[in-house]
Amino acid sequence: MVVPESQEKMYYPPDDLKRDAHVPDFNSYLALYRKSLENPEAFWKEIADEFFWKKPATGPLLQYNFDVTKGNIYVKCMEGAKTNMCYNVLDRLVREKNFGEKVAYYWEGNSPDHHMAITYSQLLSQVCRCANVLKKMGVKKGDRVSIYLPMIPELVYTMLACARIGAVHSIVFAGFSSESLCERIIDASSCVLVTADGVYRGEKLINLKQIADEALEKCREKGSSTVTKCLVIKHPALRTKSGAACNKLQTPWDSDCDVWWDEAMRDSPEECEPEWLDAEDPLFILYTSGSTGKPKGVLHTVAGYLLYTSLTFKYVFDHHHDDVYWCTADIGWITGHSYITYGPLANGATSVLFEGIPVHPHVGRFWEIIEKYKVTKFYTAPTAIRLLMQYGREPLQKYDLSSLRILGTVGEPINPEAWQWYHEVVGQGRCPVVDTFWQTETGGHVLTPLPAATPLKPGSATFPFFGVEPAILNEHGEELEGEAEGYLVFRRPWPGIMRSVYRNHERFENTYFKKFPGFYVTGDGCKRDKDGYYWITGRIDDMLNVSGHLMSTAEVEAALMKHPAVAEAAVVSRPHAVKGECLYCFVTLKHSREFNHTLQDELKRLVREKIGPIATPDFIQNAPALPKTRSGKIMRRILRQIARNEKDLGDLSTLADPKVVEELFNQRCEAAA
Ligand code: PRX
Repeated sequence: MVVPESQEKMYYPPDDLKRDAHVPDFNSYLALYRKSLENPEAFWKEIADEFFWKKPATGPLLQYNFDVTKGNIYVKCMEGAKTNMCYNVLDRLVREKNFGEKVAYYWEGNSPDHHMAITYSQLLSQVCRCANVLKKMGVKKGDRVSIYLPMIPELVYTMLACARIGAVHSIVFAGFSSESLCERIIDASSCVLVTADGVYRGEKLINLKQIADEALEKCREKGSSTVTKCLVIKHPALRTKSGAACNKLQTPWDSDCDVWWDEAMRDSPEECEPEWLDAEDPLFILYTSGSTGKPKGVLHTVAGYLLYTSLTFKYVFDHHHDDVYWCTADIGWITGHSYITYGPLANGATSVLFEGIPVHPHVGRFWEIIEKYKVTKFYTAPTAIRLLMQYGREPLQKYDLSSLRILGTVGEPINPEAWQWYHEVVGQGRCPVVDTFWQTETGGHVLTPLPAATPLKPGSATFPFFGVEPAILNEHGEELEGEAEGYLVFRRPWPGIMRSVYRNHERFENTYFKKFPGFYVTGDGCKRDKDGYYWITGRIDDMLNVSGHLMSTAEVEAALMKHPAVAEAAVVSRPHAVKGECLYCFVTLKHSREFNHTLQDELKRLVREKIGPIATPDFIQNAPALPKTRSGKIMRRILRQIARNEKDLGDLSTLADPKVVEELFNQRCEAAA
C-alpha cells in the first residue's frame, strides 16, 4: 500500500490538524499498521504499559483459535494479568495524573434547563458509593446487573460501579419494551435491576418504573425471578428545584424489592477497594439482535476491551487533553459503551453526555450544544445527519460551530450526499469525517480513517485499524485480491473482539465462524476499490442479485437520495420470476413534496442513470415513515415482508413506532399487490 492518490475527488487532512496529531500522515499509519500485524506482542505491550496491572500478564498478549475445524474458537488477551477497568479509567487518572478537577462529563438533559458538570473526582466518588450500594444488595463478582436507564449520569455511575466490583453489567436501552427487558433479564439471570422513575423523551413523559415492573412481572410469569432488588433513581426532570419528587408520575412501589437511589446512596461510603479481576473475566454483556431468533448476549472481557477502546478513541478522534468530545449515541448501544464511557474515560477525556433528541425543543439543539460547550470532536449517525439535513442550513447558521475539528459517523453506510452535507455544512469544509465501521461484536472501530493521516473518499470507511486484518471472500470462501466485492471477514482477532455469546458459545461459533473456517464473518458485504479503500455495501442479507448481478441496496438508496424530493430511501429485494430478484424501493419525501407517477418515473430513471439499467427499480412506494428501531436503524426485514405482502410480521417489539407498518401496508403499490 502507498499513499493513496485517485482520479476521484479525495479530501485530504487539513494541515493544522496534522501539526500535533498522534498519527500525522499516511506513512506513519502504514508503519504502525505493519508493526501491529508483524509484531502484535510489542505493539499491544506498549499500549498495555500505559495502564495499571495489579499483576502482570504471564502469557502472550493475544492467543487465539479462529478455525472451527481445529477446535473451539477462543481469544485471550494478557492471560494471567490482574486489573480493574474502573481503577484504570478513574483512580489511575485522579491519583497518578492529577485529573481530579478535570470535567469528565457535561451532562445536558432532554430540556436545556437541566445540565451539570461532573469532574473525575466527583465521578470516582459517586461510582464508589454506588459500588457499595450494590455490594450491600448482595451483588458479588461475576453477578449480572441489568441497567434500564435513560442517559443520566447515574447510568455511567452504575456501569462503572459494576466494573469496580467485578459484576457484569447488562445495559438495556431504555426505549425497549417490557417484553424485551424481561427477555434480557432472564437470559442474563440478573440479580439486580437499576432503573429510574421516568423520563421525558422530547415532550413525552415515559413511566420507566412501570415498564420495569411489567418486565419483572413477566419474568415471574415465566418462572424466572432472579432479580431480588430494584434500585430506582428519581429523574432530575421529575424533581422540584429543591430535589423533592414532583407528582407527575405514579411510581409503583414494592417495598420488599424497590430501593430509592437517594436513600441508598446517602450513607454509602466513598471508599471502595476495586475487585482485582483476571484479564479475561467478563466486563459486560450487551444484547444485539440476531437475524433469527432471540437476541445474542455479546460478551466482552476486561483487559482486551480496555486496550482496544482506549487506543481507538485516542487515534480515531485524535484525542488531546483540551478537547471537548461529544458522541450523540445512547449508552444502551455499543457506541455508547465504547465511545461515551470506556474509551473516552480511559483517555481522561471531557465528554458531553446528552439525554435528549436532535429536534427538541428545536431543530438546532445539536448545534446549540456544540456552541455551548465548544465541542471539538463530534460523533453521530448518518440517520441523524439525514434528519437534520432536511431542515437545511438555517438552523446551523444561528450557532458558532468554529470549535469543531473532527466529525465522526457510525452505524450504517453513509450516502455521499449526507457525507457532503456533514463535511460542508456542519464541518464548514474544515473537519475530516471519520466514517467508522464496526459492530457490537468488534468492541471498537475496525475499519476507519485516522483524521490527520487518511485521505478520505465520501462513503468509504477507508482502511483497517491497527491489529485488524480484513479480507474479502466470495461465496465459496475464496479470498479475493485487489479490486473486489464480497463478504467482509477478519483473519485474526484484535484485543477488543467479543469472546462469546453469553452462555451460548455454540451460537457464537455458528454465527461468526462456521461459514468460512479461519475467519470472523462480519455479515457485511464490502467492496475494495483500486486504491485499496474499503466500502461497506450493507448487510449481506441486504445484498441482492438481479439477473445475476450482485448489487447492494445501499447504492440504489444513494441514487434515490440524489432526487431533490427524497428525504430518505430504503431498498429491499423482492422475488422476481425472470430476474430472480428485483428492487422494491420505499421513499420518504421531503415536506410538501407530492408522490405521484411522474415522480416514480423520475426516480426509476435516476437509478438507471446512476447505476445502470440492471438496477432499474420495479417498485417505488411512498413511505410517510420507515420502520426503525429505537436506535434509528431501518428494519429491512419488515420492509422485505411488506414488499412481499406478507402480513405475518412476527416480533415488532424493537420498532420505535409500530404504527408505521400499518401505514406502509395502506400505501403499498397497486402493482405489487
Ligand atoms: O452493517 C454494519 C453497520 O452496523 C452493523 C453493526 O451494528 P451494531 O452491532 O448495532 O453496531 C453499530 C455501531 C457500531 C454493521 O455490521 N455499520 C456500522 N458502522 C457502519 C456500518 N455500515 C457502514 N458503515 C459504517 N460506518
